[in-house]
Amino acid sequence: MKEYTLLAGATGYLGRYIARELKRRGMPARLLVRNPRSLPGQIGEYTEVVTAEVTRPETLRGVMQGVGTVISTIGITRQKDGLTYMDVDYRANRNLLDAASAAGVSRFVYVSVLNGDSMRELKICEAKERFVDELKTSGISYAIIRPNGFFSDLSAFVEMARRGRVYVFGDGSTRANPIHGADLADVCVDAVTGVKSGISEIEVGGPEILSQREIADLAFSAVGKKPHILAIPDAVRRAVMKLARVFTSSKTYGPLEFFLSVMARDMIAPAYGSRTIAEFYREICSDDSGK
Ligand SMILES: NC(=O)c1ccc[n+]([C@@H]2O[C@H](COP(=O)([O-])OP(=O)(O)OC[C@H]3O[C@@H](n4cnc5c(N)ncnc54)[C@H](OP(=O)(O)O)[C@@H]3O)[C@@H](O)[C@H]2O)c1
Repeated sequence: MKEYTLLAGATGYLGRYIARELKRRGMPARLLVRNPRSLPGQIGEYTEVVTAEVTRPETLRGVMQGVGTVISTIGITRQKDGLTYMDVDYRANRNLLDAASAAGVSRFVYVSVLNGDSMRELKICEAKERFVDELKTSGISYAIIRPNGFFSDLSAFVEMARRGRVYVFGDGSTRANPIHGADLADVCVDAVTGVKSGISEIEVGGPEILSQREIADLAFSAVGKKPHILAIPDAVRRAVMKLARVFTSSKTYGPLEFFLSVMARDMIAPAYGSRTIAEFYREICSDDSGK
């Protein structure tokens, strides 16, 4: 009997690449989605799709049948459902883990964030790391993927460059090695088959370590404009974080505090993959020029 990999999060940026990678490797996959129409056409056609709400455990009945491994990329990024990180990044993943354990699933691959364990004061990390703690003691075999920032978030630099100015934090010298979804998907699917066996927490970033200023320069080069980089003083960044915590709800300051915190420190993980930011920027600019 074939053993499925159940993928929760296939409608998202990373999940789409993971679904394609499972297909490419000929691994039977079941995609768990809340809205099948959010799946790109091709993906839904070649894999089994089940509809359920990960935030409502009663809808998960039966979805784990025949499943060997669960991969979850479930988490709030841009969703505006009125839910908190605790509701989704923690509770919904806990619901999946409970359903997996009850069905005797052997492995759970979870996508958290790089340095999440040392940033628990941030709402998003508090929720993700609570799930990580429980996954570790659940008795199920697991892999925790700890990726650096995704290329999808770097398109903001191109949007700013098009408008003629890119803002960086501090002096713009903090460095990171963000990763393309396709390269990260490779790591996630390797974790299903245990290629990196024996390693249960996998920190991973892309092949290039670049400062904010260097990323800004690449964005200007992609849009063909002269670089004009403006620095936002660190005191302003800290003040915005404090004000947001006092005057806005956790749904607003949660994403903001995460973004403002990671931009102020070096975020460097072991390098993987081959896709570069310059290529990514060229692709999004050529896609846009064809519109
Ligand atoms: N972006 C980064 O730089 C970065 C870096 C490190 C780690 N991560 C983490 O990696 C994971 C994947 O990121 P991504 O960029 O692929 O995110 P994404 O594109 O927003 O995908 C998130 C997935 O979670 C699902 N989801 C969110 N809220 C839900 C809810 N209330 N009920 C059911 N499903 C829900 C989404 O479903 P819908 O499509 O139906 O909304 C989507 O399939 C996230 O946990 C993120 O925190 C991201």
